[in-house]
Amino acid sequence: MLKRTCYGGELRESRIGSTVVLNGWVNTYRDQGKGLFFLDLRDRSGLVQVVFDLEGADPELVERARGLRREDVIGVRGVVRARVAGPNPKLETGTIEVAASELEIFSKSAPPPILPDDHEAEKIQEEKRLRYRYIDLRRPSMQKILRTRFEVTRAARTYFAENGFLEIETPFLIRSTPEGARDFVVPSRLYPGSWYALPQSPQLFKQILMVAGCDRYVQIVRCFRDEDPRADRQAEFSQIDLEMSFVEREDVMAMMGGFAQRIWKAILGYEIGEIPRMSYADAMERYGIDRPDLRFGLELRDVSALAKKTGFGVFEQALAKPRGVVKAIVVPGGAEKLTRKQTDAYAEFVKAFGAGGLPTVKYGAEGFSTGIAKFLEPIQAELVSELGLKPGDQVFFGADSWRIVTKALGELRNKLGADLGLTKTGEWKFLWVVDFPMFERDEERQRWVALHHPFTAPLPGEEGKLETDPEGCLSAGYDLVVNGSEIAGGSIRIHRQDVQQKVFELIGLTAEQARSKFGFLLDALQYGAPPHGGIAFGLDRLVMWLCGTNNIRDVIAFPKTQTGQDLMTEAPSSIDPEQMEELHVRNTVPTQP
Ligand code: AMO
Repeated sequence: MLKRTCYGGELRESRIGSTVVLNGWVNTYRDQGKGLFFLDLRDRSGLVQVVFDLEGADPELVERARGLRREDVIGVRGVVRARVAGPNPKLETGTIEVAASELEIFSKSAPPPILPDDHEAEKIQEEKRLRYRYIDLRRPSMQKILRTRFEVTRAARTYFAENGFLEIETPFLIRSTPEGARDFVVPSRLYPGSWYALPQSPQLFKQILMVAGCDRYVQIVRCFRDEDPRADRQAEFSQIDLEMSFVEREDVMAMMGGFAQRIWKAILGYEIGEIPRMSYADAMERYGIDRPDLRFGLELRDVSALAKKTGFGVFEQALAKPRGVVKAIVVPGGAEKLTRKQTDAYAEFVKAFGAGGLPTVKYGAEGFSTGIAKFLEPIQAELVSELGLKPGDQVFFGADSWRIVTKALGELRNKLGADLGLTKTGEWKFLWVVDFPMFERDEERQRWVALHHPFTAPLPGEEGKLETDPEGCLSAGYDLVVNGSEIAGGSIRIHRQDVQQKVFELIGLTAEQARSKFGFLLDALQYGAPPHGGIAFGLDRLVMWLCGTNNIRDVIAFPKTQTGQDLMTEAPSSIDPEQMEELHVRNTVPTQP
């Protein structure tokens, strides 16, 4: 066998004159007549040009070379030389080529259904790429992503080892302990009618490891949540998950901030610097979202007091609602940049978030015009000064309950940021969001819902509010946001059984339900639980940002489609009737093919 002596994509001018053996795939080939046969050989490291001079060569070699087709797997031996036809700037190896004298064909490829060319990838349907993932992954850009992902996990293991963390595995077959999403479940063969669940995260196990005296735990771990996949969400994803004992939120945030700094420096050579903080309340008021994208302004401004003076029906009705508000977003230069068609489309866009419409106005040298200009006349001067308007600006208003206005304008702000090209690549805006409320009200079910998860502790000094003012009680949770994406979330945990029980009660679990679902945690908390806290980084999202893709499927070797399928193995699939029998389960719907 012609065994590789080096990777072809790594060859440079310094190797001119040396004999090498390369192994890889035929990326492209050109038979130039005159005896010269060219091919680009691809291996994990990239591409390199290989030239056979077939003039007078062994007829058997000539036949084998001329028979080569794309994606055949070969070995070649040859001498590295300066590229005879002059450098090819498109290839990293473009100054050299390998003049080959030997060729071994390891396997012939059937005509490939897709080609692993980066410049072709956009044109290929993603379904096809996922179906033939083993060809798609041969693309240099996919290989680069897999490598970056590995570099991130390697750097994580080094960083956390340096800081005294132990990597400890937690089980995948666990008791169903929902954390907010739907569980994937697995039937038990040995216990008819009983089920395991796959963990949504190792949350309770890592807390119990703290009770178990492990002090600092980390794990790069798969999590499973039966929710609909999205551009940045998979049902099966990975976390860099950690937990620390005897800490306050500052300690966990410093540890995780240090990790983010290390990763951005190691992978992108970028200095994040100190990560700023913002309270949840501020984020919601100013950006309408708990993960603001700070790469651009377009802040939400409360103009309720001025709106009250207009007598405009839409504003009046909004302000008459419980917690009714009128808020504005100013788009600098929007009067010229945004067409009527666009502003109409934005009005439709906000309706999806419950808003009735999107009142708007343009500001110019002659004052307000178009839209609701006439209603704003009484407050024109005050509004111009309050919002700092300049001629050419356009103002959008949200008028409704605080919840609807916040959601609608928050979403609109992100859309405007993207549409107006305000988000530059290579710019990193990190932010810690802190001081979340412990609970949100679920009006439909008339109960509180934990904003992080129900194991999150109140901020020190806020515990009393669990009894007196649950809505006003702030938690010791924290989220790390980069460019508008939540890449990590965690909290200081409750380490006292009575407090944990109180929180379960508030989220509507009876004592029996709490015991039945989380009895093992409540038990553990009564046998000496240290104060502890932790956080989990979404590894896939982290790699997405580092690789500059907004498709989570690009950073996972074998991802699921938007509809939860693995197109390569065709999962999910039906199983044999005998398997079902053994597992004591029966289909209630016709079996899918
Ligand atoms: P949380 O649910 O916030 O916290 O998850 C932590 C991080 O995991 C990533 N993430 C996801 N990534 C891809 N697809 C998904 N479906 C998905 N869901 C979450 C996000 C998120 O910031 N046990 C707690 C952590 C803790 O409190 O320590 C937890 O799982 O980037």
